[in-house]
Amino acid sequence: MAATAGIALKQTIGMGVGLAGNPFLGQSLKLPSVNGVGKGKGVHVNPAGLAVVRAGGYEEELVKTAKKIASPGRGILAIDESNATCGKRLDSIGLENTETNRQAFRQLLITTPGLGEYISGAILFEETLYQSTLDGKKFVDVLVDQNIVPGIKVDKGLVPLPGSNNESWCQGLDGLASRSAAYYKQGARFAKWRTVVSIPNGPSELAVTEAAWGLARYAAISQDNGLVPIVEPEILLDGDHTINRTQEVAEKVWAKVFYFLAENNVLFEGILLKPSMVIPGADAKERATPEQVAEYTLKVLKRRVPPAVPGIMFLSGGQSEVEATLNLNAMNQSPNPWHVSFSYARALQNSVLKAWKGQPENIEAAQKALLSRAKANSLAQLGKYSAEGEAEEAKAGLFVKGYTY
Ligand code: 13P
Repeated sequence: MAATAGIALKQTIGMGVGLAGNPFLGQSLKLPSVNGVGKGKGVHVNPAGLAVVRAGGYEEELVKTAKKIASPGRGILAIDESNATCGKRLDSIGLENTETNRQAFRQLLITTPGLGEYISGAILFEETLYQSTLDGKKFVDVLVDQNIVPGIKVDKGLVPLPGSNNESWCQGLDGLASRSAAYYKQGARFAKWRTVVSIPNGPSELAVTEAAWGLARYAAISQDNGLVPIVEPEILLDGDHTINRTQEVAEKVWAKVFYFLAENNVLFEGILLKPSMVIPGADAKERATPEQVAEYTLKVLKRRVPPAVPGIMFLSGGQSEVEATLNLNAMNQSPNPWHVSFSYARALQNSVLKAWKGQPENIEAAQKALLSRAKANSLAQLGKYSAEGEAEEAKAGLFVKGYTY
């Protein structure tokens, strides 16, 4: 996964149309090395004849990384809970929220034998990116040896959005470039930024615009530092709205997100989209079948997401483990323009926590539980999953009102 390090790229600028008057017309520029790394800048000439710096010279690597994550029968294991949120997971099995317990839980997950067959990427929290196993192997190396790409959550969480209808916005752009460069150095090859949109609270034009613009700025900065950005505009499940209302909001949100991604010269082949599925609000009386969820979700995705995007990696958002898997399976019953897969946290971890209970003697059983959920979702990615024989526990909803990450 070497970047174009060591070589300052020689770019020929001005080979295009409509460039009369462009000072770079026909010129060949030797671009300087950056931050002592010596990477070349990806310079493109846009139709107006202006040179646009894009993706920091990492284009080829970004496309390769995104394709690897979006490989057949595989998806993402999201274990990027902040320390506070990881505390909620540990609390559910009576464990204290200490660094030792967080390390133990994450070690259990990523050392699961054979995990790489079903999991192509793992999203980590900053603390986890720098952790090692108890016998001293870096977590990043454990993942790479399992053929799993290490990723990193880079957003700094949600805060109230003044001037809105009690909505929120996502922080983390300040200092993002230098943090991203450091994460790359530590072995991360993709990033995640999660922002949310609330249907019962609006969503207001302001909140949607802020969410989309933040995602686009983050995506451009990630690509400039060699990280494939996972673009995650989560439309929260909270509310009693119908599936039609979710469709309306998803169309609006995804349209804005892709508009601003384009405005920010983001390379679409080097991103992954992590959307919510188009489903009714958690409190809606009328529920949707997996076939309906697939129909609505794919219809909106096809209207809004260019086929240049290699992968759609859904979040689970509070659906039960089985529901999230069934819905994914329904979406893969016929070919799609993109790889349609999973990037679940709750819907992959719930059974594992219950099997583990924080006891060393249960580690093997907990790893088996993870492998079985990962395999189920792998089959769903291939459209070959059946819920037959699934435990009742895996069917229990995981939705929590007003849930924060
Ligand atoms: P859930 O699958 O629990 O909704 O997680 C989404 C997420 O963003 C974690 O990275």
